[in-house]
Amino acid sequence: MTDLWQNAMDHAVALARKAGSLVRDAVQNDMKVMLKSSSVDLVTKTDQKVEQLIIDSVKEKFPTHSFIGEESVAAGEPCVLTDNPTWIVDPVDGTTNFVHGHSFLSCFSQLEFGVVYSCIEDKMYTARKGKGAFCNGQILNVSDQKEISQSIIATEFGSNRDTEVVDKIFSSMRKILCLPIHGIRGVGTAATNMCLVASGCVEAYYEIGIHCWDIAAGAIIVTEAGGVLMDVDGGPLDLMSRRVVAANNKIIAERIVKEIDAFTPLRDDAS
Ligand code: IPD
Repeated sequence: MTDLWQNAMDHAVALARKAGSLVRDAVQNDMKVMLKSSSVDLVTKTDQKVEQLIIDSVKEKFPTHSFIGEESVAAGEPCVLTDNPTWIVDPVDGTTNFVHGHSFLSCFSQLEFGVVYSCIEDKMYTARKGKGAFCNGQILNVSDQKEISQSIIATEFGSNRDTEVVDKIFSSMRKILCLPIHGIRGVGTAATNMCLVASGCVEAYYEIGIHCWDIAAGAIIVTEAGGVLMDVDGGPLDLMSRRVVAANNKIIAERIVKEIDAFTPLRDDAS
């Protein structure tokens, strides 16, 4: 019997490699940077080209499947998750890194599986529900650290520059840093930050303001590596709420939740 999800995941891996090659070529050339919601929310022709490549190719192979794509939503397509198999696509997660020539870039998912390709490092992270998480074929396991004081936490500043929001971001970081913890890191892409949790390199990642396409693939990679996901208020993760905590275990997740000054961005599926 054919395994639909394995076929789909194999297709996603092949497409991520193709996309990675387009992104690597583009890094060598001049790129035209455009703005989306604000002067710090960037997009390039490469983001759009890669998303189109992925959608066209998946449509041809799985004509009944649906899509939520970062650049399609920016162009006015709806962001609605239904029961139909849905591919959630972030063509270049870490567009700001890409524009500035930094080296962490990634790609995409389905809730049955997740694929994140860090194409400059050539690291292919994959996970399928119930079947574990891997990086270049090596099994991934989260850190077994239970002491917050021995932990590294990843987070990002995001792209909202309203002073009240920036104040909350700094206040949360300050409180978490002074617990104390070993350090705060952030590589400029939500997907890669989540893969670092899955790899055991950092104990947790949290952010408010990300979108469903930034975290969908990483979410399954984290849980398949043994980690946990929750909302920044300690409730269950809501993929459309633009808030996430991904951690190696509940103890670390709940400890940082206590320090986060939560706020509520406009939901991804708000019409
Ligand atoms: C961004 C990255 C970044 C996070 C932002 C995201 P994009 O995604 O994941 O790390 O801080 O909130 O929007 O726009 O580069 O795909």
